[in-house]
Amino acid sequence: MKLYLSSFAQELKVAVCALALLSVGTVAASAENPVKNGNITPVPDSVFNSLAATPPMGWNSWNKFGCNVSAKLLMKMADVMVSSGMKDAGYQYIVVDDCWQIARDENGNIVADPERFPDGMKAVVDYVHSKGLKFGLYSCAGSLTCAGRPASRGYQFQDALMYAKWGVDYLKYDWCNDEGQNAQAAYKTMSDALKASGRPIVFSLCEWGSNNPWEWGKGIGHLWRTTGDIRAYYNVQLDWGGLGVVNIIDKEAGLYSFAGPGHWNDPDMLEVGNTGLNYDECVSHFSMWCILAAPLMAGNDLEFMSKETKEVLTNKEVIAVDQDKDGIQGRRFLDFGDQEIWAKPLSDGEIAVCFMNRGENVWNLDYTWTRETIYFAPKINFKTTTYTVRDLWKHQNIGTTKDAVKAAIPAHGVLMVRLSPNK
Ligand code: GLA
Repeated sequence: MKLYLSSFAQELKVAVCALALLSVGTVAASAENPVKNGNITPVPDSVFNSLAATPPMGWNSWNKFGCNVSAKLLMKMADVMVSSGMKDAGYQYIVVDDCWQIARDENGNIVADPERFPDGMKAVVDYVHSKGLKFGLYSCAGSLTCAGRPASRGYQFQDALMYAKWGVDYLKYDWCNDEGQNAQAAYKTMSDALKASGRPIVFSLCEWGSNNPWEWGKGIGHLWRTTGDIRAYYNVQLDWGGLGVVNIIDKEAGLYSFAGPGHWNDPDMLEVGNTGLNYDECVSHFSMWCILAAPLMAGNDLEFMSKETKEVLTNKEVIAVDQDKDGIQGRRFLDFGDQEIWAKPLSDGEIAVCFMNRGENVWNLDYTWTRETIYFAPKINFKTTTYTVRDLWKHQNIGTTKDAVKAAIPAHGVLMVRLSPNK
């Protein structure tokens, strides 16, 4: 009897779910292209896999605002992303992180906090779209998010349909309260659900690198966190796993072979402009994220950012290194302890080089280009080709590779240059 009842209950559950899915699917029919006559055309792998040809760029609420999110905040950030020049510099996504969700309704549909999102999530998404931007939101593979809100376990397909109905373009999917699930299977389920929703949605795996997502994430999602959460410090390792800028860089250094167009290592969102990093540290943080071909998700209050913060976040020459179409993650080329030289091969025979001073004293750099071959950049040859050296923060050419490069690099600062072959 017990068995019968439980299988009946199962069937009932399936039927209710199917009904719920059908009703969401029908509503979605009128909203977006790929959904026709109530039948959803799944997103083909060819489309899904081409969604993040270069590392995604946008803004996410978590680093600055935590749970203090609202429609008002997101709409304001969308406005400022346009007026500050960030959209023009390439930022696209406005992403609401944890705490937008408050409950599930009687059909199991996820519900946005009505006090903070009085007109529902779709109204915010529409507003963000009206600014020529894209919209992202957050959920989690467990039953509850990291902040204890309802998450997607058991509701993956239903949630994905709802996101599609709202017009969501990007999902960040966390790993709290994982309840012993297999990570790859859990992320694959959500990936399948997103594809089945009919809407192309960028999928950001936020699994903190615990189960080596770089080994299986390609094809499931477009980016995967490689570490615990970033903190706005240059160098820190907190007991619970929080990490500073250089601590993350060190963890990311060996993962270069896993990144490429459509699939990126994610060293976490930016702390540029947040209290805890000085100007030189912000420049280093941003430069190195670009050398690492990292997703660039600003994490500060865009409305009240200083002129310096804006200049860092919108430095188009540095962003061009991040967004280079070859999508090669840069590598540490020389390591002198506190002083490191990193290089990122670019398309068309160019290369970006970043001299990074991790030390507490000025680095009086005097570096002869012909001294070493950049062993992982076979197209670069300092003996047969002369390159123009451009300082990407001063926006000036500072010589050629025939001469030594000299600079006083401040403590925790960088010199970042782009080398272009003289024709
Ligand atoms: C985890 C993630 C963070 C953020 C919070 C939200 O810690 O790694 O990026 O999304 O959860 O609760």
